[in-house]
Amino acid sequence: MAKKKLQSAFFCQNCGYQSSKWLGKCPQCNEWNTFVEEVTSKHLEKTGWKSLTKIHKPKKIDEISLVKDNRFKLNDNELNRVLGGGLVPGSVILLGGDPGIGKSTLLLQLALRSDKMTLYVSGEESEYQIKMRAQRVSDSSDNCFILTETSTQNISQHIESLNPNIVIIDSIQTLHTSTIDSSPGSVSQIRECTSELIKYAKSSGTSVFLIGHINKDGAIAGPKILEHMVDTVLQFEGDRNYLYRILRSVKNRFGSASELGVYEMNSKGLREVSNPSEILISDRDEPTSGVAIASTVEGARPLMIEIQSLVSSAVYGTPQRSATGFDNRRLNMLLAVLEKKCGFRLAVKDVFLNITGGIKPDDTAIDLAVLCSILSSDQDIPIDMLTCFAAEVGLSGEIRSVNRIDQRISEAEKLGYKKIIISKYNKFDKSNKKIEIIQCSKIEEVFSRLF
Ligand code: TYD
Ligand code: MG
Repeated sequence: MAKKKLQSAFFCQNCGYQSSKWLGKCPQCNEWNTFVEEVTSKHLEKTGWKSLTKIHKPKKIDEISLVKDNRFKLNDNELNRVLGGGLVPGSVILLGGDPGIGKSTLLLQLALRSDKMTLYVSGEESEYQIKMRAQRVSDSSDNCFILTETSTQNISQHIESLNPNIVIIDSIQTLHTSTIDSSPGSVSQIRECTSELIKYAKSSGTSVFLIGHINKDGAIAGPKILEHMVDTVLQFEGDRNYLYRILRSVKNRFGSASELGVYEMNSKGLREVSNPSEILISDRDEPTSGVAIASTVEGARPLMIEIQSLVSSAVYGTPQRSATGFDNRRLNMLLAVLEKKCGFRLAVKDVFLNITGGIKPDDTAIDLAVLCSILSSDQDIPIDMLTCFAAEVGLSGEIRSVNRIDQRISEAEKLGYKKIIISKYNKFDKSNKKIEIIQCSKIEEVFSRLF
């Protein structure tokens, strides 16, 4: 007798596009050679989640009771902030980030510090490894349960008997469900496991955190649809050589998507940093040349950052331009503006630029601080330690206005700065500001005031 043929389809492993035949190039994400055949036949009888079989009836919207802001606070203020003020019961949160950045540490700490019953499911590490990490972060808890398991059928049984308030899955790529025959980590497995967990979360009111691996472009590995399915997508980023880690919300159905949390990785795990500006600016007793402070806004959070530069005569023929944490092309553009509009001869000089703390600000308001730090190093004249900058520089050397100027000024004032240089065209709230606000329209004006 002929064997029954299994149903299958081809999936782009980059974006999750489904096709009935093999394709060389994905029509959705334009990647080459990403199609893999996956078995799609479902064995629904094998699903383990009993709670999923509940049948919902249509309800009048007026009859749906609303518990007034039922979100609960976690013992981690940075995470609360990023989630929009606490954890919403029944929400599903996807946490992505580079390997070794601290995703497992962050969520294990959350599990250990939580007052609610939390189940940490790991498909990547053994119980012993997790215990060692827990010892390292030196928290102990009565409410934290550890399970090392990868089958969603088994996980569902344990969840149903334990009935936790928070479930953490480390990582979604290691799970597999027996309702589908394809291998763990494949697009259809990831999608199916996520959808089972989402249905469970919504019907039980348990919040689920999913850790997701990222691919080489920095997107969460697996189908893009994953990000559409969950309520919140968080990205954990930072430079491995630096201690700071930034938790960013990319999508949030229950709050603003521009929130930011800052942590410091030390020998005892991740420490919350409630005032990041203080650490990003190094302690100095006397002003040094080549240092300028910029008032930036990362996400929705104001942040004072320090910019250092070193300008020296080029030893070799071609001058070097190198920037850490700042776009090299933008640096070249700013140097060209200095050369052409202000007459500084930098073409024969090496220019090195560094943004301290390992952060990569994505804010054009640091332009003016970059220029001033370069000139301060070139002229070897230090900038006053209590002066900071917040403005964009245009191609003709004009100082342009930037958004959220009131927030930037208040942050500078809060941290004890005495002067801030901004664009002449920036409108701001003039009431009760103690800081001196200097408005300039051309780079030359800024220089004549500084040097
Ligand atoms: P981990 O949480 O395993 O990262 P991910 O789950 O994102 O892959 O973090 C591992 C890194 O964190 C590792 O390189 C060591 C470092 N670390 C510390 O520096 N201090 C600590 O207390 C812990 C637990 C980890
Ligand atoms: Mg991990």
